[in-house]
Amino acid sequence: MMTRRGFLLGGAAAGTLALSPSAAGPLPPAVDTLPADAPVRRLTLSAAEMEVPLLGPGRPATRRFCAYNGTPLMRLRAPRGTRLKVDFTNRLPSATTVHWHGIRVPYLSDGVAPITQEPIPPGAAFAYDVPLPDPGFYFFHPHCDETGQVGRGLVALLMVDDPAEAKVPFDLEHVIVVKDWRLGADGQFLEMFTDEGASTAGTFGTVRATNGAVVPPRIEAPAFGDVRVRAIVADATRVIDFGCDTEDAAILACDGQAIPPILLDTVPDGVWRMGPAQRLDVHVRMPGPGGEVKIYDYRTAEPYLLTTLVAVERGKKKRPFRPLALPVAKEVPMPDLKRATRLEFLVQTAAGAIAVAPSLPPDDPLAKALIDSVCVGDKTFWAISRNSWGAGADLRLPPPLETLKDGQSYILSISNVTKHPHPMHLHGHIFRVLSSSRKKMPQYLADTVLVEPNESVEIAFKATSGNWVFHCHILEHMDSGLMGWFRVA
Ligand code: C2O
Ligand code: CU
Repeated sequence: MMTRRGFLLGGAAAGTLALSPSAAGPLPPAVDTLPADAPVRRLTLSAAEMEVPLLGPGRPATRRFCAYNGTPLMRLRAPRGTRLKVDFTNRLPSATTVHWHGIRVPYLSDGVAPITQEPIPPGAAFAYDVPLPDPGFYFFHPHCDETGQVGRGLVALLMVDDPAEAKVPFDLEHVIVVKDWRLGADGQFLEMFTDEGASTAGTFGTVRATNGAVVPPRIEAPAFGDVRVRAIVADATRVIDFGCDTEDAAILACDGQAIPPILLDTVPDGVWRMGPAQRLDVHVRMPGPGGEVKIYDYRTAEPYLLTTLVAVERGKKKRPFRPLALPVAKEVPMPDLKRATRLEFLVQTAAGAIAVAPSLPPDDPLAKALIDSVCVGDKTFWAISRNSWGAGADLRLPPPLETLKDGQSYILSISNVTKHPHPMHLHGHIFRVLSSSRKKMPQYLADTVLVEPNESVEIAFKATSGNWVFHCHILEHMDSGLMGWFRVA
């Protein structure tokens, strides 16, 4: 059950090993994305194991489930412009960190060992400074043994509300967390990382679930009312085709960033493909009393029901469907496309990956720190342009994929030459998805983009000082080489 890394991380040694800045080279300055006098909210956060009846009543409860603050799939919300001061304590039996996915935090609060902090050993604490400059739908999760800890449930949602959104007259918000559980018949977690999975599409759960439960939610909403559906794929592996059985539905935001609404019916096949870590906001108009809207993942041979919305009489009148646009945030730094530097990266299998940094002797304390902190599996199956994040006996932190200049704009062309889709995520930035070699699509802002086999996708962003990882969000892929980093200085 416990991985080799888990054992190493469980030891007290991790606590005594100060992270040497030399592991990542000189530390660039960290950038605050809110004014110093922004309103502060304190959050006491801990991660711990608990027992949860994942399979439902009458079935064995699952031990060693991981949750923040004792709440499975915890949800938080805060207004845009707030600074969260997070006092985090690790009550897990192994090391962890907290990564604020999609949020433009100063990189020293980004939670990535060993390039932004050292791992937090069991019993230890860490303070995170989390400014929330941009409204949107975010989440947080460990960036250490993700495959194991996220696989066992350690994910929480963070909605950052724009005060201007309050004027958009939704009747109801419904959140859909897509996350399967990998359980044996006895209700206990199975090994999350398998070589067969990690080297292909990933290891799937054994039971599907929405919002943690194996029975899809049935939610009442006002007949003819307007529902804001907010979906996230928090699974380690699964890619879904989000869709529903009504024409009156429109996409409002990707990764929490508002776009001019797009009728779901007008996108290819009427579905929006989403990989791990991707979020989608959709406006659904309810039918008349007694009617239902069913939301599905259409990617599986048999569409999988994610949620049923049931229309109940609340005195609302029928009227033509017009999507309710969300206010577009203006805080995200926009790239200057005319002056952008173009960089090309290949997502590929590790065959042919070359060793770029010298290996360290295994008894070097830095080598131990790397085993503890690079937070990767024992195997290397994937690479970004022939760089694989060190794994197993390969005790090296790879050099940055590239050193970027603070404030400079970049266009990354990401080409997938493997047989599997890869949701590619860049830390610390919200980027503009410019184009795909395979499909016509609107431009939108995101922090994670799905790159299909034989597809090249172009993204653009304005670089912010820091050490930032760039990786696939299929967790076994990132844990087996599909991760690199940029130094921005
Ligand atoms: Cu959601 Cu590097 O991760
Ligand atoms: Cu991948």
